[in-house]
Parts: sequence; structure tokens; C-alpha cells
Amino acid sequence: MTAVPSRIDPPAEPLSGLRLLAGIVKNPIETWPSEVYKQKLYQSSILGHRYLFVSDPDLIKQVLVDDADAFGKGVITRRALQPALGDAILTSDGAKWRWQRRAAAPMFRHESLLRLLPSMISCAQHTRDRWLSYPASTEIDVAREMMRTTFDIILATMLSGRGNIDPPSIERAITEYLESTSWVMLMTLIGAPRWLPHPGFRKLRRGAKYLKQFLGGLIVEARRKPLGPHDLLSLLIEAKDPETGRSMNDDDVRDNLLTFITAGHETTSLALTWTFYLLSLHPAAEERVRREIATVTAGGELRPDHIEQLTYTRQVISEAMRLYPPAPLIAREAQRDIHVGERTAKAGDFVYVPVYAVHRHELLWDNPDLFAPERFDAEAVRARNRYVYIPFGAGPRICIGMGFALAEAAAILATLLSAFTLRLRPGYVPKPKLRVTLRPERGMPMRLIPIS
Ligand code: HEM
Repeated sequence: MTAVPSRIDPPAEPLSGLRLLAGIVKNPIETWPSEVYKQKLYQSSILGHRYLFVSDPDLIKQVLVDDADAFGKGVITRRALQPALGDAILTSDGAKWRWQRRAAAPMFRHESLLRLLPSMISCAQHTRDRWLSYPASTEIDVAREMMRTTFDIILATMLSGRGNIDPPSIERAITEYLESTSWVMLMTLIGAPRWLPHPGFRKLRRGAKYLKQFLGGLIVEARRKPLGPHDLLSLLIEAKDPETGRSMNDDDVRDNLLTFITAGHETTSLALTWTFYLLSLHPAAEERVRREIATVTAGGELRPDHIEQLTYTRQVISEAMRLYPPAPLIAREAQRDIHVGERTAKAGDFVYVPVYAVHRHELLWDNPDLFAPERFDAEAVRARNRYVYIPFGAGPRICIGMGFALAEAAAILATLLSAFTLRLRPGYVPKPKLRVTLRPERGMPMRLIPIS
């Protein structure tokens, strides 16, 4: 029998009132009504705020690409993320966003990425060697392990490994921070002032403070000492706004660095965590990945030029991000009254692209809940609308780190799968939980079986 990977069951009836508010705090994705998975548009309101879910690919294109300037990041995103990320590339709009995006772009060009591949592979090998030192059949939390590996990579690539960092403290700070973001959403909806404490408020502030202090120190040091080869920190320090000639001050640099560190490791680590889970449910696909790796590498160590050739491995990662998109919701706010299909979003309305639901939409996919990497055969991809699959978003705000993340995920998966089989703890069902990203609620306990 085909295993059905864990999924969110939408409520039988759309939630309202207190049940909706409580659901938002607990796990917002569980409050999405079933219509979001079946219809093109779903409009409703909560506490006087109107919101519109857009699940249709052509309308998604309108919101994210064609009329992108009519939809800003909005008050909820800003209020949830600004305490940590300030007004940097992810949270700003307009001219302020544009020049920060331009400043960081060289880091993500194809040639720059090629230079980063050896660091990615060596961090993956580091994790593999650590795992090899464990007794056979050790149970690990793959979610943790992947977080650590992608964190090593982000520091090695974006900061050239600068600074003396304690990854568990950073990870704790990020988790504490994200845990309280659902409360922030609720507080925004009820119109509470920013300073009003809520559960998790102290943790949120503490998480943000820890992260900022750590980066502040690095920047002071980088400004004092001559800069090394081009990493993101150097690029940001040297950047100039072409319109105003202004450089970034320490706060701008720090907020952008923190954005890249958080946006750049948590998402990829979740893509890998869910991939390992799905492969554990589908041993035949796992075997095929392993055979591909063995053929491409001829049984040797993975090299940068191999990554492009891992076609099926990349398909598996794409399919994992369809079923469990690391960023399951793209949130916008209408800047002016605008028609979206047969609905109207008024200025100030929340407009949501529910990536998780689009990726499992009844009208867009056959057997949407089943794992089938063949969906990403080149021909199948060509045959469908580009906007049915949007793990990295689309349009001007598309993920700047997409190429980076795809190469990184393939490098890590190939390195670890050629040395280990991972098996989920029997009976364990990982529940997806939305906390800005899509995390397995209680981690991903898996047994490590070395391949002899
Ligand atoms: C599998 C991994 C990743 C996923 C699924 C992902 C997903 C996304 C999505 C959906 C957006 C668009 C948000 C929106 O339109 O509101 C985004 C933006 C962004 N991502 Fe990623 N991301 C990943 C990896 C990375 C990496 C590795 C980096 C950096 C090293 C990164 C840095 C960013 C930044 C800076 C933005 C903001 C871009 C802007 O607003 O101009 N991401 N990401």
C-alpha cells in the first residue's frame, strides 16, 4: 500500500470567533478552511480585517508578479519580524527594499555560487563524519541535525566563517523568537499596541537581543580590520544606494545579515528534514537516489560538478518542498483597491498565497497528498502552469537564495545518503506546524543505519 505522508486536515467548517483566534495561536495552518484546497479564491474576515486566500495559479501570478507593486509585505509580517530583522531586505518595501536587494545580489550570481559549493560539501561531510562517530542505530533528531548543518554552511559562506559562534544558542534564540510570532499575529488582529506584553513576549525580545548582540560584535570587527575575500558582510559594508549615495549603517548591515542567516538556514534545513522523512516512507525512491549518487560520483566523494548531474535527487527534494513547503504562506497587504479574479481586495486587506494548500490543491495536482518525484520530470514541469509550484515565491520578491538552497540541499542529501539509511521512529507521525516556516512539531526522530 502507498504510504500517505502526514498532512494537515482542514476544519470541517470554516472556523470563526474564538475558535479561529485560538487556532491561529496554536497552529495557523490548521485554521485554513478546506475551500482553500479546492477553490481559486476564498475571502472572509476576522475582527473586522478582511483577508483573501489566492489559490489559483494565474491569480497568484497577478499578486506576486504582474501587480506586485500593489501588494506590500504588510503590517503582520512587519510586526512579527521587525523586532529581529528591522527594515532589511525581507521586511522592507519600495526603494528601501530595492537597493538592499541590489546590494546583496552579487553574492547569489551563478559564478559566486560555484565558489561556495566546496564549503557546502565540506560542511555536509563534517556532519557525515560526526554521524559516523555515533554507535550504529543511534536515534537522532534530523530536524536539529539539519539545522546545525545548514547553519554551518551559512556561516562558512556568508560570513567566511568569521566570529566565535555557539550554534545551539542561536538556534534556541531563533526557535524562541518564531514560537511567539503567532501571538504577534493575534495581537495585531485585535489592534493591541506593540508594547503590550503577550505570552512569549519576553522570549521574543530576548531572542532578538541575543542575535543582534552577536552580529553587532562581528560588524565592529569587520569595519576595523581590512576585509577578506568577498562575503556577504563585506558586500553589505561596501554597498552604496545608487539613488542617494548612502551606505548602510551598522544597524542596516546587522539586520540584513540576520535576515540572511535566519532565512538562509532554517528553510533549507526543513526541506531536508522533510525529504529524509519522505524517503524513509519510500525506500524504493531512496534506493534510486542512492544509485544515482553512486553512478554520478563513481563511488567517490561528491564534487561540485556532480551536483548539477543529480537529476533524480533534485526531483525528490522538489517533491518534498511541494508536500512540505518550508515557507508555507506568502503574506501580502493590498496597497490600493484592486480586483483579484472576481473578488476585490480593498486597500489594507490581507492577501495570502497559501503555498502549502496550492501545492496540494485538488484542481492542480493528481493525488496531491502522495509523494511522486516523477512530477518533477523535465517534461511534466514544462507541461504545467509555472505558478502551481512556488516554494520560493515568484516575481520581484522571489527568494534570492533559491539557487544557493537547491545546490546546498542536493549536496547535503547526497553526502549523507551515500553513508546512511535513516529510518523514522516506528509509529511516529510528524505534524507540520506553521511558525513562519513549516516545522515538524516535535522534531524528526530517526535511526541512523550506516551503510557498510
Ligand atoms: C529551501 C530553502 C528556501 C526556501 C523554501 C525559501 C523560500 C523563500 C520565499 C517563499 C521567499 C519569498 C517571500 C515573499 O515573497 O514574501 C523568500 C525570500 C527570501 N529568501 Fe528564501 N528560501 C530558501 C532559502 C534561502 C536561502 C538559502 C537564502 C540566503 C542564503 C534565502 C534568503 C532569502 C531572502 C533574503 C529573501 C527576501 C528576498 C526579498 O524580499 O527580496 N532563502 N525565500
